[in-house]
Amino acid sequence: MSDDFSLAGEWLAVCNGDDVPAGSTRAFIVADERIVVWRDAEGVAHVWRDYCPHRGAQLSLGAVTNDQLVCPYHGWRYDTLGQCVLIPSNPSLRPSKRACATAFVAGEKYGVVWMCFGEPAHALDFFPEAAIPGGRRINLAPQTVKSSAPRVVENFLDMAHFSFVHVGILGEDAHTEVPDYEVVESADGLEARQCRFWQPAGLPGQGGAMMDYVYRVKRPLVAKLTKMASGAMGALHIMLVASPVTQTETRAWLVSIHEGETSHSDEELYDFNMEILLQDTPIVESQWPKLLPLALDAELHQKCDRMSVAYRRWLAGMGFGWGTTSAWKKRERAYCATLPP
Ligand code: FES
Ligand code: FE
Repeated sequence: MSDDFSLAGEWLAVCNGDDVPAGSTRAFIVADERIVVWRDAEGVAHVWRDYCPHRGAQLSLGAVTNDQLVCPYHGWRYDTLGQCVLIPSNPSLRPSKRACATAFVAGEKYGVVWMCFGEPAHALDFFPEAAIPGGRRINLAPQTVKSSAPRVVENFLDMAHFSFVHVGILGEDAHTEVPDYEVVESADGLEARQCRFWQPAGLPGQGGAMMDYVYRVKRPLVAKLTKMASGAMGALHIMLVASPVTQTETRAWLVSIHEGETSHSDEELYDFNMEILLQDTPIVESQWPKLLPLALDAELHQKCDRMSVAYRRWLAGMGFGWGTTSAWKKRERAYCATLPP
């Protein structure tokens, strides 16, 4: 991880659980660290540094054998705690305690594998809506977004782009106004309430309707929303996870819970959510700077941007550095305009 410790106590999404079947390994990069996720025969997902302490080979290139991860280079075998238990070239030696892979705190919830570089400072409880009886969970495949994780999260919290980026689904020319809404900050994070927006097809199978939204951000890189057509039954709950690859690259995906949804297949619900996610990607990638500017004079905020402003203030208040910049201020706007595309 970089010298920025703002991620140290955070649960970070790594991948969907289905990406790592039992007995397999997968390589990822999380916050500049090479990570291996492997799953033992009991179904437990392990998240380790993708690094063998013998000669630095990538453990993700190895194999899972008898619940041990075997390094691809000289065959050292590591148990589920990361301790080396066999050195094949010196089989009579008992491996020292230093012959140990780095195992991170890991958890699996909502169909997502999570990790923490240090000790988790918060519970892994971002999405209680996943337990709603009868809710159908759809996990999108992670998508690479060449921008910072906070830019990705802020886009998820933004309603004013619906009529331009999601034309015909979440907005249209005739309805561009964002009615004023309220943002409340508490120990549980941020909540935007009384959000309303007219949408031509805001839910699968839904015709034009005024939609009610609630947005919540409990931790910096996970956000969620609940939406439903005004007066209707059956809400859609969506959690956005922004897995930080580098300061300016993110793997993002949506986990959605569809309440009372019986008229569409899983594939249709998947495609509905994926189309929206992919519409956002090129716009977020075009934003400059890629780091989210926390100084409030760096960009131009309007009433409709209440939640974005609250998010930036909240990140600044907690000293959250990853994917953000405090150096980008008003004067840079003129400089930015002179940059080549
Ligand atoms: Fe892993 Fe040698 S580098 S066993
Ligand atoms: Fe969007």
